[in-house]
Amino acid sequence: MSSAKRILLIIGGGIAAYKCLELIRRLKDRGYSVRAVMTKAAHHFVTPLSVGALTNERVLTDLFDLDEEREIGHIRLARDCDLIVVAPATADLMAKMAGGHAGDLATAVLLATDKPVLIAPAMNPAMWLNPATRRNVAHLKADGFRFVGPAIGEMAERGEAGPGRLAEVPQIIDAIESAFVGGAENSGALAGRHVVVTSGPTHEPIDPIRYLANKSSGKQGFELAAAARELGARVTLITGPVSLPEPEGVAIVRVKTAAEMLEAVRSALPADIAVFAAAVADWRVSAPQMEKIKKAEGQSAPTLTLTENADILKTIAQPGPQRPSLVIGFAAETQEVVAHAKKKLKSKHADWIIANDVSPSSGVMGGENNTVHVISSNGVESWPEMSKAKVARKIMERAATELDGKRTAAE
Ligand SMILES: Cc1cc2nc3c(=O)[nH]c(=O)nc-3n(C[C@H](O)[C@H](O)[C@H](O)COP(=O)(O)O)c2cc1C
Repeated sequence: MSSAKRILLIIGGGIAAYKCLELIRRLKDRGYSVRAVMTKAAHHFVTPLSVGALTNERVLTDLFDLDEEREIGHIRLARDCDLIVVAPATADLMAKMAGGHAGDLATAVLLATDKPVLIAPAMNPAMWLNPATRRNVAHLKADGFRFVGPAIGEMAERGEAGPGRLAEVPQIIDAIESAFVGGAENSGALAGRHVVVTSGPTHEPIDPIRYLANKSSGKQGFELAAAARELGARVTLITGPVSLPEPEGVAIVRVKTAAEMLEAVRSALPADIAVFAAAVADWRVSAPQMEKIKKAEGQSAPTLTLTENADILKTIAQPGPQRPSLVIGFAAETQEVVAHAKKKLKSKHADWIIANDVSPSSGVMGGENNTVHVISSNGVESWPEMSKAKVARKIMERAATELDGKRTAAE
């Protein structure tokens, strides 16, 4: 990356504010220059002294605290950087941003800037899922603000878990770097598009150490994300537990369960294209145990009662304002591949279904190649066996053509 890039970091008053110290260190290691603005509330969680020591710059908070030369007022701060990162972004800060407030230095800078802004929210799951926050986030996304996270997991409050954790520092750095890979985003068949891809298996807990899973390797989904990125899209890859190298310039959201995956997809919207390549578990254990289930002499084996998971493809493909323009589902079948996929196309309201045979003899699960059939309202197109990377590239090129066609038809 270019060593000259200047980041203005706006630190909100959340419990995760301490993590911005690690973020600043990692950014400085990578050669970025970092200046920080802290909200008044942020001072309760991290000191300006620590932030200033790491940025090597005076930390600013007060809208009216101009230096003697009147050189670093809010307009100058807003313009004198290449990217603004808000981390952690509190619910309150996002509400103010969505409402166009400018009552303190942080919000005044955000209102005055003409630079890209990356928001890394962090809050309790109830705050994140509150309809007011959902509205504010949708508003900010529609206004062109970029988001990274929140991640899903345990919160500072004991026993609470869900979406709301600040994205991990490497994930924030990836999102920053992809904001700077502007060159790729400004050219390519998917330039200016947001593509969401789901990938990998899900793990549905039985107890703290056991889970229900499947054999999906996540390779096809990761290739789809990489191909969309190569074509210039902004990409959010939502993946179940896999160990694959992360595609460059792609924002990655890691989840475990189907419920977490659905929530992550909802949080990533709006998108132009959504590709559901994950092998999402159809069922979860109705009542996962909090402690390891013990084997006891003379006792019969435990019975697992299962509950159906929400259908992510069907949920997102429903007509509505948040529906991506192109919704693509994957159908993994072991028999009557095309017939089942045709049914799925209709019942799930998808635009295309990519059907593949995943019976053990096909070698698709975990393998490098795939043989797919593309099913749409135009009929069935059967592609010869090719690498998963090639399948991904062809799907994304076809998707770009389809979106261009829709745009032309609308004009
Ligand atoms: C202990 C404590 C922890 C908090 N953590 C968060 C948080 O993680 N996320 C959040 O949105 N608000 C959190 N808040 C509430 C914010 O601090 C409060 O809304 C504040 O007005 C935010 O100001 P700012 O947006 O100007 O930074 C917390 C408050 C307290 C007292």
